[in-house]
Amino acid sequence: MAKDKKRVFFCQNCGYESGKWMGQCPACKEWNTFVEEVVRTKSAGGRPAGRGTSGSPVRPVAIRDIGSEQRQRLSSGFEELDRVLGGGIVRGSLTLIGGDPGIGKSTLLLQVCGILASGGRSVLYISGEESPEQIRMRALRIGEQTGDLKLLCETNLDEIEAVLTREKPQVAVIDSVQTMYRDDISSAPGSVSQVREAAAAFMQLAKGFEISIFLVGHVTKEGVVAGPRVLEHMVDTVLYFEGDRHASYRVLRGVKNRFGSTNEIGVFEMQDVGLVEVKNPSAYMLAGKPAGASGSVVACSVEGTRPMLAEVQALVCRSNFGIPRRTAVGTDINRVNLLMAVVEKRLGISLSDCDAYINIAGGIRMNEPAMDLAIVLAVLSSQKDLAVDDKTVVFGEVGLAGEVRAVSMAKQRVLEAGKLGFTRCLLPSVCVDGVGKPDGMELVGISGVQDLARLFA
Ligand code: TYD
Ligand code: MG
Repeated sequence: MAKDKKRVFFCQNCGYESGKWMGQCPACKEWNTFVEEVVRTKSAGGRPAGRGTSGSPVRPVAIRDIGSEQRQRLSSGFEELDRVLGGGIVRGSLTLIGGDPGIGKSTLLLQVCGILASGGRSVLYISGEESPEQIRMRALRIGEQTGDLKLLCETNLDEIEAVLTREKPQVAVIDSVQTMYRDDISSAPGSVSQVREAAAAFMQLAKGFEISIFLVGHVTKEGVVAGPRVLEHMVDTVLYFEGDRHASYRVLRGVKNRFGSTNEIGVFEMQDVGLVEVKNPSAYMLAGKPAGASGSVVACSVEGTRPMLAEVQALVCRSNFGIPRRTAVGTDINRVNLLMAVVEKRLGISLSDCDAYINIAGGIRMNEPAMDLAIVLAVLSSQKDLAVDDKTVVFGEVGLAGEVRAVSMAKQRVLEAGKLGFTRCLLPSVCVDGVGKPDGMELVGISGVQDLARLFA
């Protein structure tokens, strides 16, 4: 074997590197995941000499001399995607979009490419998974004006590098990074070495020629981008496209973003003409809420900078077993257990012989502590079988002493509730002053869970 190559073993699950084979990965504790791969020791992932990114000698620069125009943003045509990206597609950025197979990654990116191309941008869509005919069929289905959109069906990295270097499009999509391979690496496409090599090569191309590159990455059943976690460290932005296979909504969530906040989410709906933005997710989440039912409470959670209403449902019923069941869908089960314990201890209500099921209807996961108060109220409402007024919105964090603590952006939450026709808001007492006096909204300050129990008295 050539001197500049060495053999190492990689965990195919998390990318852990080892000089020898191991049965269990010390990092992710998975069994039987080590595979031998050949890596190049010299400039792993680097470009051959003479293909430097700019040709100029390497020299540090003063930070004040760096022009801000270097980070110009391009609108993707989707407000939801732009927001998750932190205000549009950054020139020369490398973005990874992960998600389950069939969730709509290719569809979303093809739509974005179509919009950009019809706006006069040069766009190259590189697919290693589908034939040009398949992609064309999809493009026709989503009825996008595909303009000058160029397609390339190729999986060889050297070829792709050559094409990108020659064409220098403004935006390129690689669908998917797991199908790309370099000839002189002996391991199979999708293995840690290959994916890492591909990501490094695309990073160089993105920075060198100011191409905004989107990488599509498949996700394993554990919910990480298949095999290489390493990929997440290398790229500028990591987005996950998630959603229930059986429902039509899709949520695009930022996990890492070098150019913006990571808390933002974008909501889409998969229709027969492709993905359509959901500009008002609150209305969408509340559609079908039962009127006058016990155990149903509308909560307000903030995702990134956007307040969003959602219905919290609780069903508390007598348990037939020794150990009561606790189930949570769309929120954290540990948090639910904690809140149930607070209710038992602070309100003296026995729940130890009751099963409890909590559901955030609509299907978007909400883990914000501000949901606590709504969960507690829903549990009480179901336990007492008394409905909460339909025009009430609830938010606030609940502590172990039963106290209701302040949450951020109280005013925006109240305004969002007002927009959707709600007239009463239960919120932490400490937040009431900060909210002011919004028109047509009654504010009820809650300082502890005891105040909630009084609502039903
Ligand atoms: P796709 O973009 O191929 O998923 P990924 O690239 O993430 O694997 O998504 C395809 C799915 O979306 C497929 O199950 C069919 C569905 N779909 C629609 O419902 N409407 C459409 O207009 C299109 C193009 C796809
Ligand atoms: Mg696809």
